[in-house]
Amino acid sequence: MTRNIVWHQTSVKKTERQKQLKQKSCVLWFTGLSGSGKSTLANALDHQLFKQGNSSYVLDGDNIRHGLNKDLGFTDADRNENIRRIGEVSKLFVDAGTIVSTAFISPFQKDRDTVRALFEQGEFIEIYVNCSLEECEKRDVKGLYKKARAGEISHFTGISSPYEKPDAPELVIETDNLSVDEAVQTILTYLKEKQILF
Ligand code: PPS
Repeated sequence: MTRNIVWHQTSVKKTERQKQLKQKSCVLWFTGLSGSGKSTLANALDHQLFKQGNSSYVLDGDNIRHGLNKDLGFTDADRNENIRRIGEVSKLFVDAGTIVSTAFISPFQKDRDTVRALFEQGEFIEIYVNCSLEECEKRDVKGLYKKARAGEISHFTGISSPYEKPDAPELVIETDNLSVDEAVQTILTYLKEKQILF
């Protein structure tokens, strides 16, 4: 399929963009159950980075499924493809010098590892948004767990479709115990330690 296609080198390098933006670019890959707090954290972090003058952006599961990935459902194969495309889009953002936060359940370790392999060392930061199924189901912000339990939604993560916890995430955020502000501070501290922010 890729025959007769040649990679075209851009004249502005990623490092030059990063220098101009005064930051290193990376992907903050939030993964966790539906209702665990991925979107909330990604957006709160993005807001803080924006206020600080950083170049950042959020890619969110529900939103991306309205456009780019509107052709995909929730079978294992569709989730594989969903995450593959987001991985590629994230790579473009990182190449553009941006700090991109992604909020996708991304339930399969293999898919997350495949995305990780697209990036240079230190660019892919996996953040496990750890919240028990009981708590997510109690929150049931969108009423989806109730529907899944009633059999109205098939392949629902945690109920009728698996979620594989990350093997070795860079960060674990326990949203059962931590406030949004505390979680954002934890992530910002990590980014400073790794000299992504300076
Ligand atoms: S995945 O697994 O990464 O491909 O999923 P993602 O693209 O993040 O989409 C998850 C959001 O879609 C809604 N939704 C479902 N989630 C899980 N299982 C099923 N069957 C399902 N159907 C719809 C739900 O709102 C998810 O959003 P979050 O923010 O995770 O709650």
